[in-house]
Order: sequence, then structure tokens, then C-alpha cells
Amino acid sequence: MFDEERSADVVAESFAAAPDERVRRVMTSLVRHLHAFVKDVELTPEEWAAGIRFLTETGRQCDDVRQEFILLSDVLGVSMLVETLHYRAGGDGTESTVEGPFHLVASPPRALGDSIDLTGNGEPCLVTGQVRDPGGAAVPGARVDVWQADADGFYDVQRPGVVPHQNLRGLFTADDEGRFRFRTVVPRYYPIPTDGPVGRLLSATGRHPYRAAHIHVEVSAPGRRTLTTHVFVEGSPYLDSDAVFGVKESLVLPFALVDDPELAASHGLPNPFRHVDFPVTMLPQR
Ligand code: BEZ
Ligand code: FE
Repeated sequence: MFDEERSADVVAESFAAAPDERVRRVMTSLVRHLHAFVKDVELTPEEWAAGIRFLTETGRQCDDVRQEFILLSDVLGVSMLVETLHYRAGGDGTESTVEGPFHLVASPPRALGDSIDLTGNGEPCLVTGQVRDPGGAAVPGARVDVWQADADGFYDVQRPGVVPHQNLRGLFTADDEGRFRFRTVVPRYYPIPTDGPVGRLLSATGRHPYRAAHIHVEVSAPGRRTLTTHVFVEGSPYLDSDAVFGVKESLVLPFALVDDPELAASHGLPNPFRHVDFPVTMLPQR
């Protein structure tokens, strides 16, 4: 019978016959932790109702361009934890980080060297890199999908009609040496969306909503583990207090100022420009 002391055991037992072993394990553990939490804080009926209202509002804020549940997972550090556990056997691989809710559209395929900036606003920047395996061998033809906020700190999907569709997004195919390069602008730090329940949670708990400036990079290739990561702009505000705990030191790279008119012209960039080089090490498929 259900009582305070045995509550978790009784409910966990109700899953004992679940045919899928993983479902059984996950549900049993979830119930045990939930019950421990309720007992730990002695949750009141009013607080539980407020929690249900919060989750309901979170669901109401989800559609094709807004994913408040991902945001909630992000600010609670759960997205980062899941990603970190998934990748922990990584060894020498490039470190991963959260995908975030803005990888909403398939990035438009572009040729190496193309610009992903469709507006001309912001500090011009060249991004280069090489995709290799842990032994140093090139991964030819790796797919490098990139998306980022603009110089004002907005993704295209946040300002439809103001900036062109698919601004600052691109899908590149690395060359025979695994090299990739594209032109863009230096992204700015930005606040995660604060006009929903997650924003209210942050302000009620005295937390700021900012993410350090970054470019999202997802690298995939047959037989390799897909890598979801960022390149963070060295010196950006909020590197030490990123709202979603996404910063890893190895991913913070210098966006060096290059003053070389010939080099700028050869890349189709104005002079001077910023340059970041992002070497990527992909791990074999598990
Ligand atoms: C992003 O980097 O796009 C992001 C990640 C987590 C929450 C909000 C935005
Ligand atoms: Fe982002």
C-alpha cells in the first residue's frame, strides 16, 4: 500500500512488468528521484499546482520556431549533461556542446568560401578549419553545418521579414583534405528568449539570460560520430557564466584581426577582417 515511507517503492513496482528493460529502468529511476525531491523540499499542493502551470505554459510556447522545453532543459543544465555523458568516451575528439533551439531549418548548401552573411552588417570574418580523425588523417567530404546569431545578437528566425530567410546559415562539404572555409560576420553574445516561462524562471532566480558569442558547428561524415559543437569568440562577455552552461575552454578561440589587403581580396573580404581557425577531430562511430 502507498504511504509516505514506501511511496517510491510502490510506484516503482508498478513498472516492474514493463516489457522494455530500458523503459523500466528509466521510469523506476525517474519516480525514485521525483519522490525524493518532493520529500526533500516538502512540496506543498500550491507549489505543485504552480509547477504544473509552469510546465503547461512551457508546452504552450512550443511550435515550429520556438521550443521552450529545449530552453528549459538548457537553463537547467540537462542538455549539457546529456551531451557530455553521450560524448564522454570522446578521448581526443573535439569537445561537444548543446545544439540549442535555433537549428530549425535545414541549412542551405553553399560552396566552400561562400559567405553566409546576406546583410553586410557586422565585422567581416573568415572561418577556416580542417576535419581529421584522431590519428591526424583527413576526413574528406565531411559535412559542416553552421548557424549563428548576427552582429546584433539575433538568429534569422527571430526577425523574419527584417533579415533574409536563412541568413547566417550554411551547409558546407569539406574538400579532399577535409578543409572547409566560409565568410561570415563576428557573432554577438545574445539573450536566450526571455518572453516565456523560462525567462520568468531566470528573472525570479536572479539569473541573467545571456549566452557568450558563438558559431554553431555540426560536423558529420559516414562512419564517424556526428559532432555538435560551437566555436566561442575569445574575449566575449559571459564566457564564464553562459546561461546554458555550454562553454568549454577548448572551444574558445581567438578571432584574430588580420590586416592584409591582398589576403582579404583573395577571400573576397574587406580589409581588415577577423579570422578564426577551427580544427575538428571526429571520432569513429561507436
Ligand atoms: C543557442 O545557442 O542557439 C541556444 C542554446 C540554448 C538555448 C538558447 C539558444
Ligand atoms: Fe546559439
